Amino acid sequence: APGSPAVRPPLGWNSWNTFGCDISEAKIRAAADAMVSSGMKAAGYQYVVVDDCWQATTRDAAGNLRSDPVRFPSGMKALGDYIHGKGLKFGIYQAPREETCAQYFNALGGATGALGHERQDATTFASWGVDFLKYDWCSPWGTLNDQIAGFTTMRDALRATGRPIVYSINSNSAHTNTGPSYDWGPIADMWRTTEDITDTWTSGCRADCFMGVTEILDVQAPLYPRAGPQHWNDPDMLEVGVRGTFTPTENRAHFSMWAIMAAPLIAGNDITTMSADVRSVLTNPDVLAINQDSAGRQAQRVRDSGETEVWAKTLSDGSAAVALLNRSNSAATVSTTAAEAGLGAASGYQLFDVWTKAARNTSSAISATVPPHGVVMYRVRTGSTEPTPTFSLRGAGSGR
Ligand code: GLA
Repeated sequence: APGSPAVRPPLGWNSWNTFGCDISEAKIRAAADAMVSSGMKAAGYQYVVVDDCWQATTRDAAGNLRSDPVRFPSGMKALGDYIHGKGLKFGIYQAPREETCAQYFNALGGATGALGHERQDATTFASWGVDFLKYDWCSPWGTLNDQIAGFTTMRDALRATGRPIVYSINSNSAHTNTGPSYDWGPIADMWRTTEDITDTWTSGCRADCFMGVTEILDVQAPLYPRAGPQHWNDPDMLEVGVRGTFTPTENRAHFSMWAIMAAPLIAGNDITTMSADVRSVLTNPDVLAINQDSAGRQAQRVRDSGETEVWAKTLSDGSAAVALLNRSNSAATVSTTAAEAGLGAASGYQLFDVWTKAARNTSSAISATVPPHGVVMYRVRTGSTEPTPTFSLRGAGSGR
């Protein structure tokens, strides 16, 4: 939304995909520590986001939110101070209804939604040093107009605090009232476009169930006109490295596609125990540079041959990122042209493979053999004689 600090897709970590409700201040502090020690902070990651289940089930006598006394005994201000002390930013979760999502579906605690307390809660968050709010409708209640009203009320409450807070919403596409059909750009800084992601390549889910990577790509593809600085389509948090389910190839493909879609990159794995390989995926500077490009364009799916696809994103320096995606279970050759990738009728160009770091000049098709559930991603520059550039993330992130 206008005025948002999210001028680039936010980069961070969130507790939900690994820990669910099993969170504590010790785990969040450890994640903040790991953000620094793993090199993620240096790569541009900023936000440490505490998802659902941080709250006590009741407000205090003055109606203020408070943290669960067992999971977060030191309180959220202390946690925010700790995160800020690491040079990172603090994110938190709340819901616009009476209950948060975990409480609604599973009675797991975190009962106190913001309904009727929006101003008070925004003031509380600002006083705790919150820099990012995930605001999750998570219920079958209400109409689209109810959602617009509810999300606008919190947007205005956050603005009234005077603190820059990234506003991340989930309008809950599980139910018939909204889904990705509404453009939340004037209200929020990022908005979920799909059901919850799960650590599967293809889950078979289309509605009211957990989605795989490929189903999310299909929902996200047509939404590219809505993405840009301060207003991002959010295809949900990363499953890279979560529970070790994805193969190294799948981790690279998932991360490449979220990056080229200009999606917020919110890691969901346990970053305190991640392998060197998972760390190298999350911190790949050439992939992050494509994601964080200042023009903020979401890639377009320029070729869809069923099991293979080509996605292209035009970058601010006139080059293009091209992802050759193989959704199938066997290796496939995937090809495109520079013209299809948005580079016009250039006669020669340089292909820089952002994973292998190999560069080559060519004047024919942009083509590769892609492993099953894999992506080959190139940064493509016109003119075949330029040296391979070293990309820098200087100025990246959604900082202010
Ligand atoms: C919903 C959201 C998830 C997570 C949970 C928490 O399912 O989509 O990302 O925040 O609620 O309960």
